[in-house]
Amino acid sequence: MKIFSNLLPSNKISIIEELKKQPVPLHVAVIMDGNGRWASERGFPRIVGHKEGVKPLKRIVCLCSDLGIKYLTAYSFSSENWKRPQKEVSGLMQLFFETIASELEELNKNGVRIVLIGNRKMIPRKVLKRFEDAENATKNNNNVILNIAFSYGSRQEILEAARKACTNIKNNEADINDLDEKYFSGLLFTQNCPDPDLLIRTGGELRVSNFLLWQIAYSELYFTKTLWPDFTDAEFLQAIHDYQCRNRRFGKI
Ligand code: FPP
Repeated sequence: MKIFSNLLPSNKISIIEELKKQPVPLHVAVIMDGNGRWASERGFPRIVGHKEGVKPLKRIVCLCSDLGIKYLTAYSFSSENWKRPQKEVSGLMQLFFETIASELEELNKNGVRIVLIGNRKMIPRKVLKRFEDAENATKNNNNVILNIAFSYGSRQEILEAARKACTNIKNNEADINDLDEKYFSGLLFTQNCPDPDLLIRTGGELRVSNFLLWQIAYSELYFTKTLWPDFTDAEFLQAIHDYQCRNRRFGKI
């Protein structure tokens, strides 16, 4: 049911207060898809869509803070995205490089901690340094933890965790019987996070594209045709409301 389609700024606060009366997700993950199409539909180069896509992400970080959602994981660049045309990849690297710096002060002011999750070895040195500087500058913040999934692939993450587990066992730092779900989760990039309660995907595709495959075992899924740059506060609040209407049974009855 669409209930927040005509959200006005004046009633946003009361809707947030209303939503807070029910349990809100602790962790929301988002697949921000549709930037390229958004730009193409307007006759712009794809990078214009990616630039526009920074705006909803900023707004959603603020909404997470308002709603008391502690963890937000944003799929920003997948391990497969390296295979895009060089022009788009370098445009995206420049966008991340600039955005991390331009938003840092505001994020810090709002108590947002930035955590990079992904294969750091693939990331150009100057971009990685920007991310790591931002991680350091925000490491004591605790209002919202913003995991930026960048150069991220879930199968690769799981394989890497399996390698670490084998190495620990081989070096007698762990026993084979220690290897349970909790231990394994602790070897993933998301080691310090609870699993996402809600996964949102914009852009109309009905798939999870190698994102948090282990972690979303029991997540609620929200798919929308809205292209990411058009994803409004109202639709985010709608997704939270939909989540609150779900009956989460975790396999029980
Ligand atoms: C997927 O849309 C989107 C991306 C690969 C990039 C997303 C990046 C941002 C929104 C910027 C975030 C900024 C920071 C600093 C974290 P697509 O290109 O696959 O869209 P399409 O399906 O329409 O082609």
